[in-house]
Amino acid sequence: MSQNQLDNKSAAWSALFSEPMSDLVKRYTSSVFFDKRLWRVDIAGSLAHAEMLCHQGIISARDHAAIVAGMQTIATEIEAGSFEWKLDLEDVHLNIEARLTQLAGDAGKRLHTGRSRNDQVATDVRLWLRDEIDAIADLLRLLQIALVDLAEKNADVILPGFTHLQVAQPVAFGHHMLAYVEMFSRDAERMADARRRVNRLPLGAAALAGTSYPLDRERVAASLGMDGVCQNSLDAVSDRDFAIEFTAAAALCMVHFSRLSEELVLWMSQSFGFIDIADRFCTGSSIMPQKKNPDVPELARGKTGRVVGHLMGLITLMKGQPLAYNKDNQEDKEPLFDSVDTLKDTLRIFAEMVQGITVRPQAMERAARRGYATATDLADYLTRKGLPFRDAHETVAHAVKTAIDQGVDLAELPLQVLQGFNARIEQDVYAVLSLRGSMQARNILGGTAPDQVRAQVARHRQRLA
Ligand code: ARG
Repeated sequence: MSQNQLDNKSAAWSALFSEPMSDLVKRYTSSVFFDKRLWRVDIAGSLAHAEMLCHQGIISARDHAAIVAGMQTIATEIEAGSFEWKLDLEDVHLNIEARLTQLAGDAGKRLHTGRSRNDQVATDVRLWLRDEIDAIADLLRLLQIALVDLAEKNADVILPGFTHLQVAQPVAFGHHMLAYVEMFSRDAERMADARRRVNRLPLGAAALAGTSYPLDRERVAASLGMDGVCQNSLDAVSDRDFAIEFTAAAALCMVHFSRLSEELVLWMSQSFGFIDIADRFCTGSSIMPQKKNPDVPELARGKTGRVVGHLMGLITLMKGQPLAYNKDNQEDKEPLFDSVDTLKDTLRIFAEMVQGITVRPQAMERAARRGYATATDLADYLTRKGLPFRDAHETVAHAVKTAIDQGVDLAELPLQVLQGFNARIEQDVYAVLSLRGSMQARNILGGTAPDQVRAQVARHRQRLA
């Protein structure tokens, strides 16, 4: 192949082709402008492959040295921004290989021995995703630590707990934050689990059937820090289930952010007034001077749709593809890249924003009081005094109705009035009717009592250390 031919993709494979590709088809089929971000792992994969070819005696030590030197130059050029990416060369793989051949001559042309772009690209995406999962794991840890800090600071702060967005029972604000820590810790587990299946080596599968060269696949896997090799060549080049699985985990993590965001937006509204978010995470309005909008959580809620969409895109991409590799798979990159970028940005910004949340305990307590949040405690009190729970439930409903009619809290009803509902009620009922008493009473593993919250904080701190 002449140097001239290497600059032109339609000539790169093709004594067979008799007419050039139109510009539109070139643009349509090329991926270089989005897959060039794989350059680092593409070079790493090539170097591992070349080292193994040399070790197996398939290429000479001289060729190997020329490949290593050429790749070093290419890495320097790309980092410096002087590497010329060519649309004509379709993708990151052909761009780098063509430049290598310019730099290293025949040695560059020998690099692709026993390899196809099909196993090359599958390897690159896996290596790239593995490293991104590691970065995501670090960020998930930082986010959880920030939430645990906020939970610990507010282990005693009373928040009205909701069901159906109606005041239900008082819970510790810290307990509420730790619910999200649980969700994000499961996200981290899912990422770690997906990583085990991502970190397998396709190289050696070649185009689809394996190769007749005596490659040492295990050697390449070990040098790339992979956990093993893909055991079936057809599967290795064609399935993108590892990317789908990752994106599913990412979408779920974004859904957790979306739920948290929804609560932050509600809580910051004038009607709730439970929290404030530091100005640096909010924006104003160009027309209404009084406004401070929680843009960051709103955007996170919106971006969740993007990542869920990418999951749908990727899973649909796979559906209906016959074995083995099809060009369809080139479409795996943009949704995967965008899922990673969106998730990482969201993780980063939330880990910071959580530290910029100010809690307003009085507003939360006021809201809890307005909602008769201790009615269940009164029913439990009557049950302890011997009333069957269902009867106690009914009795308390009457008491709540009276309190609503009089515009007071249950704890503000005089003892005689309460005794009118059931004679077993005594002075000690007022301890039960307090929000704090209610919260402290739920002193069971997983419950909202501040002592339980503090015990969970300690457990999380140990886990996250
Ligand atoms: N750019 C391609 C991709 O992303 C690389 C593999 C191309 N293989 C092929 N046989 N055309 O999937």
